[in-house]
Amino acid sequence: MSFLTPRLFALAKLINEDDIVADIGTDHAYLPIYLAKDRKAKKIYATDISEGPLNTAINNIRSFGVENIIETKLADGIEWTKNNKFVINTCIISGVGSNTMLNILSNDNKNIDSYIFCTNTSLEKIREWSKNKKYFIESETLVEDNEIIYEIIKVNKFAGKRVKNKKDQYFGPWLRRENNKMFINKLILEDEKLRNIINQIPKEDKKLKQLIKYKKLINSTLKRGIKLNDKNKN
Ligand SMILES: C[S@@+](CC[C@H](N)C(=O)[O-])C[C@H]1O[C@@H](n2cnc3c(N)ncnc32)[C@H](O)[C@@H]1O
Repeated sequence: MSFLTPRLFALAKLINEDDIVADIGTDHAYLPIYLAKDRKAKKIYATDISEGPLNTAINNIRSFGVENIIETKLADGIEWTKNNKFVINTCIISGVGSNTMLNILSNDNKNIDSYIFCTNTSLEKIREWSKNKKYFIESETLVEDNEIIYEIIKVNKFAGKRVKNKKDQYFGPWLRRENNKMFINKLILEDEKLRNIINQIPKEDKKLKQLIKYKKLINSTLKRGIKLNDKNKN
């Protein structure tokens, strides 16, 4: 389908055949429509907190004739999934900030097996949440869309990598070991951004110490990544 952007396509690839999916904050419902048309998911709940986006979703779903597979819901977050009649294999939370994600996750419950998160900011807080819940990071991907690098992670209750330390938390247990070109570029951009912030921030600012610590973590991860890439080239 031509309307699926590289970011949404990367999200769709993480859905397994016959999954029961919840897309939280669906807006236009492009992703659920693709999943329904592609017959990838068995059932999809497309939800939004606002009536405007949900009405757009309902109209799009009708015009693609997939209302038998997609059920829409006007709902805040995932509290509705606590009802035992719902069994959700994968819950997608994409296009909202990590604080909103954490708010939504305060209603995590046994009826949801796995989550897919996507943002163009940091997923550090989400990895920390996964660590505290003793959940696993199943996969991590970076995707460039419209000159923005998005981070996508899939978290589940059963198997994958654990978030073991601060580097895993900030940079991702899979991504920092794979060290691909996009990961290195993302870190270089982040390092430049941090350098500018640190240069402008007053010395007495309490955040300064923390920012310098984070920059050091980026630098050592970058150094290791570049060294490993050079070694693999030779
Ligand atoms: C930028 S759109 C993202 C659309 C789509 N998920 C994507 O990734 O392209 C964010 C949507 O999330 C909805 N939203 C924000 N907070 C929400 C919440 N707590 N529960 C459900 N939907 C929410 C907004 O109304 C909006 O339609």
